[in-house]
Amino acid sequence: ETIDWTPEMAEKEGYDYFMIKEINEQATAVRNTLTEKSTIQEIIDDLGDISRICFVACGTSFHASITGKYLLESIAGIPTDVILASEFKYSANTLNEDTLVIFISQSGETADSLKALDLANKTSKTLGIVNVAGSAITRRADYVIQTQAGPEIGVAATKTYVSQLTAIYLFAALIADDEKLLEDVYKVPDFIEELLKEVDSIKAMSKKYKFARDFFFIGRGYSYPIALEGALKLKEITYIHGEGYAAGELKHGPLALIDEGIPVVVILPPGENHRKTMSNLEEVKARGADILAVGSKEDERLKLKSDDLFAINDDVNEIIAPLVYIVPLQLLAYYVAVEKGLDPDKPKNLAKCVTVE
Ligand code: G6P
Repeated sequence: ETIDWTPEMAEKEGYDYFMIKEINEQATAVRNTLTEKSTIQEIIDDLGDISRICFVACGTSFHASITGKYLLESIAGIPTDVILASEFKYSANTLNEDTLVIFISQSGETADSLKALDLANKTSKTLGIVNVAGSAITRRADYVIQTQAGPEIGVAATKTYVSQLTAIYLFAALIADDEKLLEDVYKVPDFIEELLKEVDSIKAMSKKYKFARDFFFIGRGYSYPIALEGALKLKEITYIHGEGYAAGELKHGPLALIDEGIPVVVILPPGENHRKTMSNLEEVKARGADILAVGSKEDERLKLKSDDLFAINDDVNEIIAPLVYIVPLQLLAYYVAVEKGLDPDKPKNLAKCVTVE
């Protein structure tokens, strides 16, 4: 089932910028992409046995791919690699007919991804997870899952990202026959709608931190790619240096840069990684960092430990957190850009679709 989008739907509809409109459309984007479930099941049935999966992507789509690796390995037990499209050629030699190579791309036209797709098509089955119908990747891949985000105008990917994640979660849950995960994913649109009602605290944080020169974003497990994507959003549209780090890696370098007043965004959903990430939070706090936390509404300890907190429904566990916890980080980047007088839809030097290698 596909949804037809009219040109009117691509207009700003009263929002100041496309980016904030598109952030607000994310619950709908997830709901619409969930309608791809039966197509995804058909693809899985047709694929048969797969011994290995490789994700190939760039930018934000690369971050969605990392989440895909964690899911497919931990839930489905399928060995999975994530490879940047521009670095793919070194791995092409290891592919065979039992490998499924998944290309994630909002535009479906990224030159590096297309080049890798041509290589992968020589040996392996290929699947594109793409937002733009009829784009080059959809024409060249063996299988296609169309994400249903609708047209995205802002250069920084937002609703296409949560839609890619939705397709990936469906794929992993169906391949692993994981009913519980499937149920949780269907609750995501409501969680997103709920948190979008509470943007005022993010606006306040943007005012407070807009003059910062460096930000760190830390998370563990499923929250690690959230940290990477949060940092990328900040860099892209505010031009502030943001670095996403696996919380466990802090002590292997970045801790040397943590000082009085450095903002550290800590992604801390409820789950098995909570305790360890909390101790990383304490480490950076002890060195004077300002803690901007995203965590559960019921996390009383986090309320005490953080300088600023964005609180989310306690039912959002760490496995589905990538679909929900990214939203406040998109909003943070957006409001910081607006506070600085920048146009978040048109970041300098960046393009929506990169057709050169
Ligand atoms: C550009 C866009 C990013 C996007 C990346 C990959 O850099 O500005 O938002 O994540 O390309 O694009 P793709 O269309 O392949 O997802």
